[in-house]
Amino acid sequence: MKKNKRLISIDEKYIGKSTRAIYFPLVAKKAEGVKVTDLDGNEFIDMISSACVVNTGYNHTEIVETIKKQIDNYIHFTNDYFYTEPQVNLAKELVRITPGDFDKKVIFGFSGSDAIDSSIKIARAYTGRSKLVSFVGAYHGSTYGAISLSAIDTNMKRKIGPLLPEVFHLDYPNILNKDKNITEDEFADIEFNKFLDNFNYYIPREEVAAIFIEPIIGDLGLIKAPKKFMKRLRKFCDDNKILLVVDEIQQGFGRTGKWFSIEHFDIIPDVVVMGKAMASGLPMSAVLSKREVIDSIDMPAQLFTLQGNALSSVAALKTIEIIERDNLLDRATVLGEYIKSRFKKIKVKSSYIGNIRGTGLSIGVDLEDKKEKYSSNDLVKKVSYRCFEKGVILIYLVGKTLRIQPPLIISDEEIKEAMDIIEEVFEELEQDKIEDKVLKKIKGW
Ligand SMILES: Cc1ncc(COP(=O)(O)O)c(C=O)c1O
Repeated sequence: MKKNKRLISIDEKYIGKSTRAIYFPLVAKKAEGVKVTDLDGNEFIDMISSACVVNTGYNHTEIVETIKKQIDNYIHFTNDYFYTEPQVNLAKELVRITPGDFDKKVIFGFSGSDAIDSSIKIARAYTGRSKLVSFVGAYHGSTYGAISLSAIDTNMKRKIGPLLPEVFHLDYPNILNKDKNITEDEFADIEFNKFLDNFNYYIPREEVAAIFIEPIIGDLGLIKAPKKFMKRLRKFCDDNKILLVVDEIQQGFGRTGKWFSIEHFDIIPDVVVMGKAMASGLPMSAVLSKREVIDSIDMPAQLFTLQGNALSSVAALKTIEIIERDNLLDRATVLGEYIKSRFKKIKVKSSYIGNIRGTGLSIGVDLEDKKEKYSSNDLVKKVSYRCFEKGVILIYLVGKTLRIQPPLIISDEEIKEAMDIIEEVFEELEQDKIEDKVLKKIKGW
């Protein structure tokens, strides 16, 4: 770990501590497909896709070629004052793949966070209302608007206020809290009635511009909202002229086996916010909605200098082409089932696996110790650190859920290799072979 260590000490000297939650001492030197090699020559299978960014894998050859070709034409030409082909072509494609059979338009950005801020602007402008609703446990990003909507870590809000006013955080319909004796629909009704109470007691519904939701909430532990809750939410928004905004930044672009996770719920949102995987690693985000919603704000309210940058746009176009041509949506579904079945088999022999869930290649596995010797947090730390030592990158969410989100292009052999290593790690855990000292080596989030 010599070269890694040296680089990390320099990094810590120069880069702000608020910018990351470090899990392992890994410095990437090269990455291709699902494999990452570090400065000391260690190789890893990446089971988190750089936080759901490289859905087509690292450095997909066709994406690299496309970017190089565009560089030969131009890296950037202003979309603020003139026009470019890549941006226009991408806008058309995004309109095609985004749910909703109506005229749509696009606003481009660079990260999920700024796209969330853009969607706040259009929601307020279009409705002429100020109040915004989101859910406890949501992570929407780190610009001011996105932080205001988020509710997953007090450090995000600490010391930086005042944040956006008129934001309300309501309870996410967390299916993991469902009583065993009721059905999912019954649970959805109970949760939705509690949700309605907020509007009966203290939030005037006619003042709400938008409700922001992740249909599958990522950082709370990859939990899928009940379908009936989402359907009732859609109706509530319709009845009260509130915009339903779905944050697809983490689950979108094929991760769940559909272009967007909202497609699992048979409802059409008013606004779709996307980012992360769009351009396979180049900065790119977008907000899509009805023409009149997008055009409710005027120039220069969204005049980002580098918006729709040519390199990011051609990379995103190629990403869409590859996902469609190589049937990566179906592949995500098939591989996701394989991963869940492997965890179910591991669970038979393990004392520490709780709920296993997931849609497509977005899988969460809760760890818990019924004997209460170890906390869930100790368990996820032990498992993920040992996986790292054995060459598999996986991390955890909310201190208790293993996060498994590999690139959609992962091969059968690679996924088997990764799952075999994970299985070995659970065997070591069962035999109490993973030393407590690893707990001090990993901080994470
Ligand atoms: C659901 C969700 N929304 C928003 C964001 C913020 O995106 P970005 O980090 O690209 O600004 C993230 C990032 O993790 C996310 O997972």
